[in-house]
Parts: sequence; C-alpha cells; structure tokens
Amino acid sequence: MKNNNNHHNNHFSMISLFKFFNAPLHLINLLSILLFFAFGLCFGIILSFHLKNVSFNLQFTQFSLSTITSAASSAIITPPQSTAPPAVKVGLKNYLNPPELMHDMSDEELLWRASMVPKVADYPYKRIPKVAFMFLTKGPVVLSPVWDRFFAGNKGYYNVYVHRSNSTSNATEPEDSVFHGRRIPSKDVEWGKVNMIEAERRLLANALLDFSNERFVLLSDACIPLFNFSTVYSYLINSKHNFVESYDLEGPVGRGRYSPKMAPTVEIDEWRKGSQWFEMDRELATEVISDTMYFSVFHDYCDGQCYADEHYLPTFVTKRFAETNANRTLTFVDWAKGGPHPTKYTRNDVTEEFLEKLRNDTSCEYNGKPNGICHLFARKFTSHALDRLLRIAPRLMQFNEL
Ligand SMILES: *[C@@H]1O[C@H](CO)[C@@H](O)[C@H](O)[C@H]1NC(C)=O
Ligand SMILES: *[C@@H]1O[C@H](CO)[C@@H](O)[C@H](O)[C@H]1NC(C)=O
Ligand SMILES: *[C@@H]1O[C@H](CO)[C@@H](O)[C@H](O)[C@H]1NC(C)=O
Ligand SMILES: *[C@@H]1O[C@H](CO)[C@@H](O)[C@H](O)[C@H]1NC(C)=O
Ligand SMILES: *[C@@H]1O[C@H](CO)[C@@H](O)[C@H](O)[C@H]1NC(C)=O
Repeated sequence: MKNNNNHHNNHFSMISLFKFFNAPLHLINLLSILLFFAFGLCFGIILSFHLKNVSFNLQFTQFSLSTITSAASSAIITPPQSTAPPAVKVGLKNYLNPPELMHDMSDEELLWRASMVPKVADYPYKRIPKVAFMFLTKGPVVLSPVWDRFFAGNKGYYNVYVHRSNSTSNATEPEDSVFHGRRIPSKDVEWGKVNMIEAERRLLANALLDFSNERFVLLSDACIPLFNFSTVYSYLINSKHNFVESYDLEGPVGRGRYSPKMAPTVEIDEWRKGSQWFEMDRELATEVISDTMYFSVFHDYCDGQCYADEHYLPTFVTKRFAETNANRTLTFVDWAKGGPHPTKYTRNDVTEEFLEKLRNDTSCEYNGKPNGICHLFARKFTSHALDRLLRIAPRLMQFNEL
C-alpha cells in the first residue's frame, strides 16, 4: 500500500481505495461506541429506577416500623413526594371558551377557524343557547342605554358584539354597559360597498367562535328593541326559519343592479333584493362565512352603486337555502317617504302610540301560523330620541325591573 502511495497518478484512486478498506473499520468502531453508550444509558436508567425503589422501600419499612413502635418520629416520615408541578386538568371547558374578542387573527384565519362544525350532533354538556346581538356601527352605540335596560337581568342568554368601522373614534363605553369591551377587530366600512359584507361576515365569524351562540341578529346603532328580552329570546330561539328578507324586483334598484358577468354562478332570475338587517341560525351563519363562490362574484361584480349588502345575502340564501328562510326581516324600517334613506325618528316621533303601533303588526306568519308579532326591532332612531325612549320603552315593553 505504501508503494502504491508514491505513485502520483494513482494518488487519488489510492486514497479512495484506502477509504474503502477502512470504511468497515470505521463503522465497527462507531457501532461499538454506540453500543457501549446505549449500554451505559440502560444501565444508568435501570440503576436510578432501582435506587428510587430502594429508597421508597426504605421509607415504607420505616413507616411500617414506626407505626408498629408508634414512635414519635412522625416528622421524619414523609410520603414520597413528586417534584412535578400539580397536574393541570385539561377538560372540554378550556376548548369551549371563546378566544379574546380582540384577537390577532387575520380575516382569512378567523373565517377558517369559525367555520369548524362538530360532527357529533349532541352536545356533551348542558348548553344554554344564546342570541348573538351583532352591532354594525361607525362610532359608539348611541342608544346603548336603551339596550342596557333591555338586557338587564338576562345575563347568560345573550352575547353582544360590536363592529365599529371608524377607527379614529375611540370613545369607550361605560364599564357597567353591556357594550363595554365587546368590540371585535374591525375594519373600515363604506356604505354600499362590498366591504360592508366583509364586516357582516367578520361579525358572524367572531360570534361563531362561541359555541353557545345559536341565533345571530345584525343591528345598527340606530336600532331599538320593540319587545322585552324574554319575548325576543323565545321568538328567535324557537323559530323554524331564518329571517333574511328576499324578493325579486324589476327596475333599476332591483334587477337593474345585476351584472351579466355574474352568470353562470348567479343568473338574472336568481337575483334577489332585501334588507341588510338579518337574523339567522348557527347553521346558516356557518354557511355564510364559509361561502367563497358567491362572495367572490359579488366582490368582483357588485361593488359601489350595486349595494352588495342589499343583494348578496338575499341572493345567496334564496339560491342555496330557500326552504329555511322566512323571506322577511325582523327589523322595522319605513321607506314610505321614498328616496335613498328611510325615515329617521327623532325626539317628537317617540310616543307610546307610535311604539305600540310598531309592536302591534299582525300581518306576518311565524312558524307557519299567524302571529301578533311581525318585527322585534325598529330603526332608524337618532340620539335625540334617547331620552323619550328611556322614559317610555321600559314600561311599555315590560323590561325587567332594575
Ligand atoms: C370618525 O370619528 C371621528 C372622531 O369621532 C370623526 O371626527 C369623524 O367624522 C368620523 N368619521 C366618519 C366617517 O364617521
Ligand atoms: C383617542 O385617544 C387618544 C389617546 O387616548 C386621544 O389623544 C385622542 O384624542 C382620542 N381620539 C378621539 C377621536 O377621541
Ligand atoms: C315580556 O313581555 C311580555 C309581553 O310582551 C310579557 O307577557 C312578559 O311577562 C314579559 N316578560 C318579563 C320577564 O317581564
Ligand atoms: C321563502 O321563499 C322561498 C323561495 O321563494 C320558499 O321556498 C320558501 O318556502 C319561502 N319561505 C316561507 C316561509 O314561505
Ligand atoms: C292592534 O291592532 C289591531 C288591528 O290591527 C287592533 O284591533 C288592536 O286594538 C290593536 N291592539 C293594540 C294593543 O293597540
């Protein structure tokens, strides 16, 4: 081998040859080292285990001895104490707790997480279904004192969520208000634009994170309730239908807003219109936030003058889930005066007779039967109406006594 090593030509091949012969040697060396190490490790483990046992046995004998002799040396006798921290009980409860309202999830992450549905139909715990009251606002909820009176005494049956689009207005709600700390991560909303639907889906998704929410109602800061909480709650929880207003309308503000580019996903005769203010169950809410097919069509071809918020849900729900829908809204609004904006109610409009008239509407069906209640909520009320509402509503609508 040494001779060959001197040959310059063969230098390279010789080295590789040398390596080749040496390779098994290396391997054997390595193997033996490994084996030795493993052996040592095993020995160590067994030994330490054994020693523990011994010490335990020792204590045990000490213990039995001391009990027999009933010596006063009880202070020495301590049960073998585990040095591990006390075990934290990991139960279902931890999973059921919704995350902080102000989380850091992106919209994409939020929608994905909120779209998860358990496959097992029955809940393995006592679940009290709640109503999620979702407020879509620009600034603070100006009529919040009315809502505070409405919710009083009904904790555990509702959750409040606020999507406040104006990020520059940072006024906070008083600490004793149900609106305090109930803001969700919000983004700017322009009336009529498709980002209004994104805000609605954001509200739905955040509310879906709480498994206790069963019904979802969208409200604005100009909305008031027309009945007390127990009436509203049982009306919603016991309803067999969703309340997404949906109708077909000829003319410029109806079918005129349809774009042929939406075909074949949405055809002209599938185009629907309806009020933005919806109420729906958990199943439909999950479908709405999971929809990408219809939403992307509206995103691309219904922005601006199309007023997506008046068409997306009516069209989507009628096309996919028509049989679940009551096709009407639960929120009263007066368009009788015409024009792009409904009637606004201010101080002098709020009388007992007026509110009674809104409450007493027998023109609607509920679960397939005639019913005395058509609307649970009404809009649009300005902040000037607040004083009168606070004076009249709690008694008229039989809110809980404070
Ligand atoms: C947002 O809030 C600020 C401060 O309250 C206000 O000055 C501004 O007009 C608001 N913007 C909109 C679009 O409402
Ligand atoms: C928002 O909060 C900051 C600091 O608390 C304050 O300086 C600012 O004036 C507030 N803006 C509004 C619109 O209230
Ligand atoms: C709520 O109002 C209804 C009438 O609409 C009344 O019968 C009921 O007693 C009220 N509930 C409570 C808890 O006051
Ligand atoms: C609502 O409209 C759809 C489609 O037009 C229909 O299938 C459904 O039965 C209607 N709902 C009720 C409660 O009448
Ligand atoms: C409700 O309206 C009906 C007619 O639609 C009327 O007969 C009834 O007196 C009204 N009830 C109240 C309490 O105003």
